[in-house]
Amino acid sequence: MVDKAGVNRLLFTPGQAAFLSAQRVARLATVNKEGKPYVVPVCYAFDGSFFYVALDEKPKSVPPAHLKRVRNILENPRVGLVVDVYGEDWARLHYIMVNGEAGLLPPGTMAHTRAVDLLRDKYPQYRSMSIEDRPLIGIGPLTVYEWRADGEDSVPERPGRDFAALAEGRHVVRQFRPEPVPRELVEQTLEAARWAPSPHGAQPWRFVVITMAELKEKLAEAMADEWRRNLEMDGDDPEVVEKRLRISHQRIVNSPVIVIPCLYLEDLHAYPDPVRANAEVIMAIQSLGAAVQNILLSAYSLGLDTGWMCAPLFAPHVVRAALDLPDNLIPHALINMGYGAKDPPRRPHRPVDELIVLYD
Ligand SMILES: Cc1cc2nc3c(=O)[nH]c(=O)nc-3n(C[C@H](O)[C@H](O)[C@H](O)COP(=O)(O)O)c2cc1C
Repeated sequence: MVDKAGVNRLLFTPGQAAFLSAQRVARLATVNKEGKPYVVPVCYAFDGSFFYVALDEKPKSVPPAHLKRVRNILENPRVGLVVDVYGEDWARLHYIMVNGEAGLLPPGTMAHTRAVDLLRDKYPQYRSMSIEDRPLIGIGPLTVYEWRADGEDSVPERPGRDFAALAEGRHVVRQFRPEPVPRELVEQTLEAARWAPSPHGAQPWRFVVITMAELKEKLAEAMADEWRRNLEMDGDDPEVVEKRLRISHQRIVNSPVIVIPCLYLEDLHAYPDPVRANAEVIMAIQSLGAAVQNILLSAYSLGLDTGWMCAPLFAPHVVRAALDLPDNLIPHALINMGYGAKDPPRRPHRPVDELIVLYD
């Protein structure tokens, strides 16, 4: 059974699915017809039900069809896949072992195209390799076994990507595939937010999460009306105005998940003078940015993509009215979340020596 979250719940708990999506390397075991085992580390993508392994251009001594793992699969489709986390702290050891049957997905099929997208989403290195022209290994799991030293439910405690790759790999995505995002993954990103630094530890932010189509539509329409008024005030060409509004509307209604980070000033210090009162609000906004970045990086570590729209900042009252939010929440942004359909061209990021103005 594949549920609405896209996870095969007969086989995988949401925690296991999150773990399998987040990790970067698996060990793939194949056997030949004499039963001789052969194990290799592989990069893989997981869509909630199936695993996909590319036959890529990493230097190999033989063409893909002659690879031992491929010959073994053609002789005997039974495979094992182990995804594990090792660290010197043995209280955190954790692995999932999947046994299943593998086959080759030929290029040009829908399953192949989707698998290539998944692999490229997960590993930027594949974006410049011609994996679309080669068969891929597809693995259908039959049994799952999980072990973790702390015996707890399977939730990845640490992202599988190292931090530099995470920080650099995250980028704004503006088009998403329609698949819903498992609630557990969204909650995990908000869990990351709560560890952000904040003035006096006040955590002056709250989050609104929207997944229902009607609410997205209501919000998009309300913000469009406000934005149209602003653009008309600027004297913009009506055709251009309508085009911009259409794009923005699509971005909102086509995001599987929308997170609206709101400033919440109730727990901040009150000062009698405007300088300190103003600084207090600025600190809260700085902190909201830190919390949002935690969400974006956490989402990326879980194989999700995110976008950022500033529209609520210009019409907080409109967002509040559309979503029936109390007056003490000040909507500041709109974070789109889901599985990216298309990467926009990336804006260049300045080299670090241009950013450091003094380092004594
Ligand atoms: C405060 C803030 C507001 C933003 N508003 C928008 C927006 O309204 N629309 C949009 O497409 N991107 C928006 N972005 C995303 C930026 O355009 C994007 O982060 C930037 O171009 C760098 O690209 P990257 O995040 O992919 O590295 C915003 C980013 C920030 C931090």
